[in-house]
Amino acid sequence: MSSQTVPATHFSELKSKIEQRQARVAIIGMGYVGLPLALLYSERSFKVTGFDIDERKVSTLNSGGSYIFRITPAEILAAREQGLSATSDYAQLKSMDAVIICVPTPLNEYHEPDLSYITGTAESIAPHLRAGQLVVLESTTYPGTTEEVLVPILEKGNKSGLKAARGEDQGEKSFFVAFSPEREDPGNQTVARRDIPKVVGGLSPRASELSGALYGAIFNRTVPVSSPAAAEMTKLLENIYRCVNIALVNELKLLCLRMGLDIWEVIDAASTKPFGFHPFYPGPGLGGHCIPVDPFYLSWKAKEWDFRTRFIELAGEINVNMPYHVMDSVAKALNQHRKALNGSKVLVLGVAYKKDIDDLRESPALTIIELLQQAGAQVSYNDPYFPEVGRGRKYDLQMKCAPLENLGQYDCVLIVTDHSDYDYERIVRDSILVVDTRNATRGIQSGKIVHC
Ligand SMILES: NC(=O)c1ccc[n+]([C@@H]2O[C@H](COP(=O)([O-])OP(=O)(O)OC[C@H]3O[C@@H](n4cnc5c(N)ncnc54)[C@H](O)[C@@H]3O)[C@@H](O)[C@H]2O)c1
Repeated sequence: MSSQTVPATHFSELKSKIEQRQARVAIIGMGYVGLPLALLYSERSFKVTGFDIDERKVSTLNSGGSYIFRITPAEILAAREQGLSATSDYAQLKSMDAVIICVPTPLNEYHEPDLSYITGTAESIAPHLRAGQLVVLESTTYPGTTEEVLVPILEKGNKSGLKAARGEDQGEKSFFVAFSPEREDPGNQTVARRDIPKVVGGLSPRASELSGALYGAIFNRTVPVSSPAAAEMTKLLENIYRCVNIALVNELKLLCLRMGLDIWEVIDAASTKPFGFHPFYPGPGLGGHCIPVDPFYLSWKAKEWDFRTRFIELAGEINVNMPYHVMDSVAKALNQHRKALNGSKVLVLGVAYKKDIDDLRESPALTIIELLQQAGAQVSYNDPYFPEVGRGRKYDLQMKCAPLENLGQYDCVLIVTDHSDYDYERIVRDSILVVDTRNATRGIQSGKIVHC
């Protein structure tokens, strides 16, 4: 029997379950991406099960608690009433209809893609896979991952001989696969999550239709593309665009400082152009799980095609150097006060990688603190989102948040992350010297401020 003649039962069953919100949704990885996604499905009356290998997250969620600052326990409790539960037991996957994977995709020590979380997850899913299920990967990764890495593990690891549906094929023993990138901008209050159009690329037309329906149930707009690889590449283009443009303004900032020009004034003026210009802003270096990491997924993959992604490499070089520029600027500013960096007391304001969020990943503040310490400075920090900073993948600081008082005791207050809660007027008034990497003191007239 040709595959086309097989009745499309799996497809129509799942489609109708999704449309009636009866589909059981599994979300694997209940982190910054997975948990908010689970809440969106719960709000729309879907029954959601969150899977995570972190038992603390599982038990916190099951007891109605939250471990992400901007998500309140009340939101978790409301979702629990809709049937949200969490587990680390992959055997529960059998009863799920759609499986969405939101696990980390970091770089390894050689700056290469570390797909171990994706492959580990795929190996855990495979034995429990059932015909007719839809599996969607959301983790940011290079084009080809879904088809070349995820699908072969799922196909090999299940004992029932299930195959991912490709082309028009939709046999009885098939499951559906798609890629859909997460585009959330943490801390951004101006765009509601469901208003961010959701790009989806299925491995087959029916996988595209099913994943379009799955996301159409919670997002106001879905954007279908022709393949998982096109969806993977879309996400990378977006992040590389940001990375390259931030590097451009960072480089121009260094030139402006040398020329005695104010880059912020220049960007504001350029932003008045009603077309052809989108503002990006300089800073102390790139942070977060995405922008400093994702572009290198593509440069790695490009090598397979004998291709060098020079913009990515150049942008990386400029952005990586920004924390060093910050350290030099602090040293110069202290020098103006006849002080050496060695032995000076420096208070770093803000360690999160950007304002108003509780995320430290790849934060340039961590590098800056380490550089200042290596130069002999006595460094303290304040950040309302972090009572302490311990040990992470690339740092080991073991520091506690210093109170935001008696600022005159510090030789320099260094603004690294411009949280909205800070009273910058007071900070400048009470400090001896303020080095500002974010233009947070904009509009405050004081000889104590050094922009860098
Ligand atoms: N955080 C963001 O703002 C953001 C935005 C866009 C895209 N992304 C991408 O989304 C993906 C997830 O990022 P995140 O920020 O949510 O990461 P995260 O570290 O906050 O969460 C990932 C979760 O996956 C869990 N996990 C790891 N391996 C697992 C496994 N085998 N089975 C079950 N759970 C497992 C971890 O315990 C963790 O709770 C990454 O690829 C990231 O690049 C993140």
